[in-house]
Amino acid sequence: NMPPLELCYNLSDFEYVAKQVMKRTAWGYYSSGADDEITMRENRTAFHKIWFKPKVLVDVENIDMSCTMLGSKSSIPFYITATALGKLGHPDGECCLTKAAARHGLIQMIPTLASCSFDEIVDAADGKQTQWFQLYVNKDRQITERIVKHAESRGMKGLFITVDAPQLGRREKDMRSKYAEDDTAVQKEGDTTTIDRSQGAARAISSFIDPSLSWKDIPFFQNITKMPIILKGVQRVDDVIKAVEHGVTGVVLSNHGGRQLDTAPTGIELLADVMAELRARNWQDKIEVYIDGGVRRASDVVKAVCLGAKGVGIGRPFLYAMSAYGVEGVCRAIQLLKDEFEMNMRLIGARNVSELTPDMVDAKGLAYH
Ligand code: FNR
Repeated sequence: NMPPLELCYNLSDFEYVAKQVMKRTAWGYYSSGADDEITMRENRTAFHKIWFKPKVLVDVENIDMSCTMLGSKSSIPFYITATALGKLGHPDGECCLTKAAARHGLIQMIPTLASCSFDEIVDAADGKQTQWFQLYVNKDRQITERIVKHAESRGMKGLFITVDAPQLGRREKDMRSKYAEDDTAVQKEGDTTTIDRSQGAARAISSFIDPSLSWKDIPFFQNITKMPIILKGVQRVDDVIKAVEHGVTGVVLSNHGGRQLDTAPTGIELLADVMAELRARNWQDKIEVYIDGGVRRASDVVKAVCLGAKGVGIGRPFLYAMSAYGVEGVCRAIQLLKDEFEMNMRLIGARNVSELTPDMVDAKGLAYH
């Protein structure tokens, strides 16, 4: 008794359906946030504090939503961000997301902890689409080096090093649902033979991550790859400044979908502050700033771009669409966002992404501003 796909009119509808049809363990892993889930909720509500300042009588007959992120074209300024364990939701796992991204001209970020192998996901691509790679840094740097070089050799256009997870957060819904061995096919990554499954999926798969990773390690990555390096999970203005000083190409202002430090700031709130600081230094062209977390409407994407984001990552909604309806579900979710985006552009009086400027929004309601 699945509702037909056509009855999903927005991303929340996919979440509703997914909750009904997904296995409890999968739902627990995908939907959970850390601790009291305060940051996870705030990720959503922070967008509601920003209001548009629409321009009227702009000729908005033709709308161009395309943009460039890390030098690659995208049909619209959002991307499918890295989320682990795709096969918990769908037997084809991350390859569903790859195929949907290809059809819609979107960029996909491939997670280190994908259920499909990295090569399967690259092979599922159409040869023209852009993919990025998300890296969890292994304690064994030789493994990391091999993974990074392989990612580059397979054409990845960006290396997103996750920096907000020296230890995985406590996601209690996930812990309660007791991740079982047969629930997933995670790639062998470091020592998976001794993993403790009593703490939920997240903890079970993450024991290889190096908690000693620090700013001193950035040159190591710059030496082993020519891919642009982006730090994913930056949560303070001065860390963005450090990122510029370390010569990385970008940052993702992110709290990992509220799954790491509870009461960490939201990406969208931080963005306003970060851009103010970068503009004050005239550094806004020195680094590409992305955000993710809680994006559920194209208006959220529009707001982020107005405030200075090059693009926005979306995680759970695509997992839910995939889990409920496979590739077709993800395609519909993307199409709904595209339709919303186009409508929003028309209604605020912006014809292309470069016309999405800070004066199009009133962000005074943001806590950080
Ligand atoms: C994630 N995220 C994540 N990030 C990362 O760097 N490596 C990873 O393996 C994962 N895995 C993962 C699994 C699941 C189920 C979720 C929901 C999230 C975080 C992800 O990249 C992104 O920061 C958030 O998902 C963005 O928030 P929304 O869009 O889910 O609200």
